[in-house]
Amino acid sequence: MSETTRVVSAKPSTDDMTDPALRPRTLAEVIGQGRLKENLSILIGAARERGDPLDHVMFYGPPGLGKTTLAHVLAREMGVNIRITSWPAIERAGDLAAILTNLKASDVLFIDEIHRLGRAVEEVLYPAMEDFALDIVLGKGPSAHTLRLRLQRFTVVGATTRLALVSAPLRARFGAVYRLDYYDLPALVEISRRGAERLAVPIDEGGVHEIARRSRGTPRVALRLLKRVRDYAQVRADGVVTEAVAARALEILNVDGLGLDDIDRRVLQTIIEKYSGGPVGLATIAASISEEPETIMDVYEPYLLQLGFLDRTPQGRVATRRAYEHLSIPYPEEGQAKLL
Ligand SMILES: Nc1ncnc2c1ncn2[C@@H]1O[C@H](COP(=O)(O)OP(=O)(O)O)[C@@H](O)[C@H]1O
Ligand SMILES: [Mg+2]
Repeated sequence: MSETTRVVSAKPSTDDMTDPALRPRTLAEVIGQGRLKENLSILIGAARERGDPLDHVMFYGPPGLGKTTLAHVLAREMGVNIRITSWPAIERAGDLAAILTNLKASDVLFIDEIHRLGRAVEEVLYPAMEDFALDIVLGKGPSAHTLRLRLQRFTVVGATTRLALVSAPLRARFGAVYRLDYYDLPALVEISRRGAERLAVPIDEGGVHEIARRSRGTPRVALRLLKRVRDYAQVRADGVVTEAVAARALEILNVDGLGLDDIDRRVLQTIIEKYSGGPVGLATIAASISEEPETIMDVYEPYLLQLGFLDRTPQGRVATRRAYEHLSIPYPEEGQAKLL
């Protein structure tokens, strides 16, 4: 199954892009993430009061939790423009230099997937973030010299799913680094309800809860499930999303009660059935289910870890007792595991 057809995928798809209406525009419209919102509101309030640009901010965490949304919200709350970029649009140092020299005072430069930036690009970013300067090397060899261009004071908002891959010097240049966590059920209920309002989907409280429960703690997944359930309700029911209608729709989509789909279950089944519950290396699991190790690590694993279905050990991945229970596979008791 490819990523694009996977309904519970937290990765963005073109489908999501067509619904800017679903994206919160102000901090007040952002649901959940209470502590993060409080921190951001202090950051924004203080910068505005001083008349300074916002300090450089980094958001990290699994896909679909609101990193891009928050970058837009920050710019809007500051009343400044946002310029969006990411690798590979800034593959070469010159690409970034061109963007930097075009920024206006206090603008937000949003760099998505910032862990992918190459070394040469990062080196342009360091003085830009620290001193609002662009160092241009003129000439070659012994006659080479640097020319320092002043830039407007601006704000970098970085986002990444992999903080560990962001180099230490780059990370050090962010004044604030925030982790986005999976959302709790009340927040997901609110996000699903608000989404249904915006899309004018007739839905009752049972329907809202059913979608929220299966959305893997992820707003993007909740909104996507909502759309697919709406389709089902329209064609196979009387248009109203009730708990029963949502449950039936999600069953057809192979999304189980916890929001796991075929691929999640295959990851767990592979570890349990082929490798006696683990430990087994990521590359081996990936090969068994024909997926990229990186996709498994970024997209499937975080939620399985969150559910406590998977442990990461230095020897590899291990399926936990809970995973066995969820798949209704008997858990091998002490001593028995070795015999399997
Ligand atoms: N806190 C939130 N409240 C309401 N909707 C949200 C929230 N966070 C994310 N969303 C919605 O979820 C979707 C994915 O968010 P996005 O910012 O693109 O995630 P990320 O950049 O982390 O992958 C967007 O449609 C957005 O509107
Ligand atoms: Mg994003």
